[in-house]
Amino acid sequence: MKKIYVTRKLPGVIMDRLHENFDVNYWDDEDEPVPRDVLLREMKECEGLFCMLTETIDEELLDAAPKLKIVANLAVGYNNIDIEAAKNRNVIVTNTPGVLSETTADLTFALMLASARRLVETSEVVRNGTWGAWSPMHYTGQDVHGKTLGIIGLGRIGEAVAKRSTGFDMNVLYHNRRRNEEAESRLGVTYVSFNELLKHSDFIVLLLPYSKSNHHLIGSQEIGLMKKEAILINTARGGLVDEGALYHALEKREIYGAGLDVFEEEPVPLTNPLLQSKYVTTSPHIGSASIETRLHMCHLVTDNLIHVLSGRDPLTPVTK
Ligand code: DGY
Repeated sequence: MKKIYVTRKLPGVIMDRLHENFDVNYWDDEDEPVPRDVLLREMKECEGLFCMLTETIDEELLDAAPKLKIVANLAVGYNNIDIEAAKNRNVIVTNTPGVLSETTADLTFALMLASARRLVETSEVVRNGTWGAWSPMHYTGQDVHGKTLGIIGLGRIGEAVAKRSTGFDMNVLYHNRRRNEEAESRLGVTYVSFNELLKHSDFIVLLLPYSKSNHHLIGSQEIGLMKKEAILINTARGGLVDEGALYHALEKREIYGAGLDVFEEEPVPLTNPLLQSKYVTTSPHIGSASIETRLHMCHLVTDNLIHVLSGRDPLTPVTK
C-alpha cells in the first residue's frame, strides 16, 4: 500500500477510509497542528500528504519529500502552498472547492446579520445585566433587507451569498477579475469597478482567494471610499485587510462595522485591537465548519488521494 501522511487526527469514519486504502502515518492530535520538524521527517517516505491550512507547504518541505505525488489540502484556499514549487517538482495539488460553498455563504450571511443588528454586543448586554428599560433608539442597528451588497470575488461562495440576498430584496453589485455575464443574468447581479463597489455598497463582502498580489487589498484608502454606514465582512483570508487601518476607521466611525471570521495571524493574538472594538463581530475561522461540510471536505481529500495514487486524474486539482 502507498504511504501517506495525515497532519491531524481526523474523525473515525475518515481515518477508517484512509487506513483501508493506504499505509497511513498521522499526527495523533485533533486540535494541535503537527510540529514542523516532525512533518519534515515524515515527508521522506510518503507519496501523498493530507494537510490543512495550518501547514506551510514550501520548497523546504517539498525537497524533504522525494516520493511525493500529491498534496491534498483540506480547504478551498491554498495560500499555504507554494503552487509553483509543487508544479516544478511534478507534485499535484488539490483543494476542496464546491462542497463548502453553501456553508461558507451561510456564515457570511450570519456575520452580515449579526454585525448589522449588533447581535453579539447586545447579547452581552442581556447577560451582564446592563439591559435597561426599553428605549426608542436603544441598540438600533442597520437594516439588511433592501440594502446594496457588494461582493468582491464572485466565485462559488460569492454566488451562494448572492442567492441568499434575493430573499432580503438586496441589490447586488460584484467585482471580479473577469466579468461573468452568465452569472449576471442568472443571479441578477451587476458588475462594477472595484472603486464603484466600495463607494456604493452597504455591505462589502470579501470572497476572493488571497495571494501576495492582493495583500491588504482593503487599506485606509479603500475604506476611505466606503459609506459611513458600510459594514465589511471577511470570510476569506485575513491578509486581504490591513487590520490597523480597519481598526482606526472603525474607532473614528468612518465605517459602521466589520464581521471578521479570519485574521492575518490565527489564532488572533489577544493584543490585536480589533478584538477590543465593539464595532467588530468575530468568529474563529469557521466558514466551512458544519459537521456535514467538514466531513464532505475530508472525503473529497481522501478521494483525491485515492485517485492520484492509483494513477488516475485528481478530482479537484488546483490549476493556476
Ligand atoms: C477554506 O476552505 O479555505 C477555509 O478557509 C477553511 O475551511
